[in-house]
Amino acid sequence: MRLSLLFPVLSPSLLVLSQSLSSYISTEQPIAKTNLLANIGAAGVKAPGAKPGIVVASPSTVNPNYYYFWLRDGSLVFKYIVDEYVSGRDTSLLSHINDFVAAQTILQGVDNPSGTAAAGTNLGEPKYYVNETAFLDSWGRPQRDGPALRITALTTYANSLLAANNKTFVTNSLWPIILKDANYVSSFWNQSNAYISYLQIQSSSFFTTAVQHRSLREAITLANAIGQTSQVSAWTTQANNILCFLQSYWNPSAGYITANTGGGRSGIDANTVLASIHTFDPNAGCDATTFQPCSDKALSNLKVYVDSFRSVYSLNSGVAESSAVSTGRYKEDVYQGGNPWYLTTLAVSEQLHLALKTWSTAGSLTITSTSLPFFQIFSSSVTAGTYSSTSSTYTTLTSAISTYADGFISIVQKYTPSNGGLAEQFDKSSGVPVSAVDLTWSYASALTAFNARAGLLSNSWGAKGLSVSGTCQSNAGPTVSVTFNVQATTSFGENIFITGSDPALSSWNPSSAIALSAANYPTWSVTVKLPASAGIQYKYIRKETDGSIVWESDPNMQITTPASGSVTENDTWR
Ligand code: NOJ
Repeated sequence: MRLSLLFPVLSPSLLVLSQSLSSYISTEQPIAKTNLLANIGAAGVKAPGAKPGIVVASPSTVNPNYYYFWLRDGSLVFKYIVDEYVSGRDTSLLSHINDFVAAQTILQGVDNPSGTAAAGTNLGEPKYYVNETAFLDSWGRPQRDGPALRITALTTYANSLLAANNKTFVTNSLWPIILKDANYVSSFWNQSNAYISYLQIQSSSFFTTAVQHRSLREAITLANAIGQTSQVSAWTTQANNILCFLQSYWNPSAGYITANTGGGRSGIDANTVLASIHTFDPNAGCDATTFQPCSDKALSNLKVYVDSFRSVYSLNSGVAESSAVSTGRYKEDVYQGGNPWYLTTLAVSEQLHLALKTWSTAGSLTITSTSLPFFQIFSSSVTAGTYSSTSSTYTTLTSAISTYADGFISIVQKYTPSNGGLAEQFDKSSGVPVSAVDLTWSYASALTAFNARAGLLSNSWGAKGLSVSGTCQSNAGPTVSVTFNVQATTSFGENIFITGSDPALSSWNPSSAIALSAANYPTWSVTVKLPASAGIQYKYIRKETDGSIVWESDPNMQITTPASGSVTENDTWR
């Protein structure tokens, strides 16, 4: 069906909006960059005591205390800095990059509560004191996205040095860091005891898996380029396994990526949008295997994610479905008040502008049955098909999507205080900034969202043409047999299942949970193979005759598997 033509003439009110948005961006961009650099040691004015190249997550020292180097935040900040440098947009950033490299060499040698440098298990530590010493208090650890994000920042730098024929620095200074991180990713990507990036949950995380996959591909390409190929075959096997596992997060019936598999939540989460922008590859088109920003799955997911906040923040009340709203980490979030975040709201805009850029380069956009609900936001009569950039449908849709994408920046504009500072969150009712002030990651996300809007893209990482192998192999490590027995009285037709943090326990996905046998009723049993020497969480669930699910009460059950042999767990339904 053809769409009625929308005249490409902006109404006076839209004109005002777009003018004020561009003037906001031109004012905010230098403020964001100055404030981002102010949080980096040793010279940063808001980072006293931080060693050179150490990014302070926020200068806030109480409620919350963010005066730490978080490997996630720091690596994402340096991903932005490296992109600015290698693109030639700001060559003055080189000294910061070399400081970062030196700091990471030191941090990789620090034993910490996640493990030892000798075993390489310390690399999963999420945060450090800004003087490069270990943070020893209790924390959700390990968090396994950090080493991957560091690989991405450093390989981008390495590739630019190789292009300038500086292989020596790459081999001597960057490769040792990347090698350790890539071995860590390759060995531990499938270990279930990984806390996801959001403090509370121990489970698999889409963001972590996606950035791990990207990082191993980058490490493999670099290894081949500098002739350090001893790990290439092992890493390639694991990169293929990770890509395969990545597909399992997609929830086809509900049209979204189940971002984390931890007990009881919807799994609709900003980490999917962050993953899509941070694994964007300008050469990969709208490939859904790697969930590119314009892929049908990532667009369907974006709609579900954005819409999940329409009724939870009073700031969003009464806003039409075709307009932007403030978004946060996930709708069930209560952290620091459970408010909208600047960086997640900006990430939505970034994903959409990256999609627009990709369609424009391709000269067309394709709507599938998966992405149709997303496109119907902008035209209820649109149907699946490929629309050339010369068609009126393409023009109508892309101009509406561009306006929608800008709407997310306009929300951030509305809740940016007059000094241009970006905190972590803004209050869900009043819009005033709350939680950590001057969050470095908020500034990086504004800068990358502005770049995407301006069509400034980062480099390709080799996502083009990747395909998923027919059978997914799990991480090739030793396994043990674990028998789960649970005493549970059930009514007729009711059955007991188990799900948990390991893929062999369906990665917390209740719809593919493992059935227990009632042969010894009221003891229900099943034996599964689980990774050896691993901390695994699980819960039993009841599936009722009408298909509904009842979870056991909190907290999750926890088992640490032995190094070899078999073990039996005897539980009682809670
Ligand atoms: C909490 C966020 O959820 C986490 O991802 C981040 O690394 C820290 N704050 C520090 O900004």
